[in-house]
Amino acid sequence: MDRVPMSTTQSSDLLWEAFQSELSQISSSDQIAEIRDRYLSRQRGLITLELKKLGQLAPEQRPVVGQMLNQLKTRVEARLEERQQQLNQQDRARKLEGEGIDVTLPGYSFGFGKMHPLRRVRQEMEEIFVSMGFTVASGPEIEDDFHNFEALNMPPGHPARDSQDTLYITENLVLRTHTSPVQIRTMMNQKPPVRIIVPGKVFRRDAVDATHSPMFHQLEGLVVDEGITLADLKGTLEVFFKAFFSQNTTVRLRPSFFPFVEPGAEMDVSCIFCSGKGCSTCKQSGWIEILGAGMVHPRVLETVGYDYEKYTGFAWGMGIDRIAQLKYDINDMRLLFENDLRFLGQF
Ligand code: PHE
Repeated sequence: MDRVPMSTTQSSDLLWEAFQSELSQISSSDQIAEIRDRYLSRQRGLITLELKKLGQLAPEQRPVVGQMLNQLKTRVEARLEERQQQLNQQDRARKLEGEGIDVTLPGYSFGFGKMHPLRRVRQEMEEIFVSMGFTVASGPEIEDDFHNFEALNMPPGHPARDSQDTLYITENLVLRTHTSPVQIRTMMNQKPPVRIIVPGKVFRRDAVDATHSPMFHQLEGLVVDEGITLADLKGTLEVFFKAFFSQNTTVRLRPSFFPFVEPGAEMDVSCIFCSGKGCSTCKQSGWIEILGAGMVHPRVLETVGYDYEKYTGFAWGMGIDRIAQLKYDINDMRLLFENDLRFLGQF
């Protein structure tokens, strides 16, 4: 059996030990490169030099020693690689620790938008009426004289056309002063029965204060069919207000006048703040004025081409802003239009 020269075995062991002890002392990738160079560099590497000496050995010893040195080389490479990975891991761990997130810290809050109280109230009102079988209709905010006034039984010269209240665009065009023109547009477009609500913007020449705004919102209602009576008007709106405010809300009608209804009425709801007992909001009366209403005037039915002998109907118009103010106890209408986020964020 070929004997491996003692010196080669020894130097291989010594190299391995020296390598291991050097490796155990390093703490950075740069140092790994240095060690790799010292042992494996193609010119001066300690193992490379041993391999170069192979030529000086007896031919039969060369493969044995060569194999031993190559194994050493492989082990060195494997250890270097292993150590490099350890260092990488340590680096990463250290970096992660520096970047650590303290999940107990309060987070950043994002400024999510919220639905405007008017839109919220309008949507709630629509949902109740739709559940009662109404359809939502709409019409233009710039309206002509015929739909805003004339067809609603307000001929030229009628006091309701007073330029004190109406914002005129031309002699024939106005910013609609109410949602009632959509009654006319709907009836001229469809045969009875009609069951619509019309939420939308209306405009009047009012100066801004706590109870007035040149633009506000109404929700109109119109029902036309055979045999419709004032009792249907009262019952429909009572069902609505019970659903909207609370089940113990009641309503009452007081005589009033609007040219396009006969009879005309105003409706009160029992005060939602004191349940009708009397408080400062209802001025101790127990009632809050809430809307204008009445039975559609035969002349209006005639104008839109309905048979007023056969059909009757009721209509109402209520202020969405006012109802939102009541619902949320907002004492100044301007808050609804100023878009102060501190205010809007509360809904
Ligand atoms: N259009 C009326 C207003 O704006 C309200 C109303 C509508 C009254 C329907 C009666 C019937 O004041």
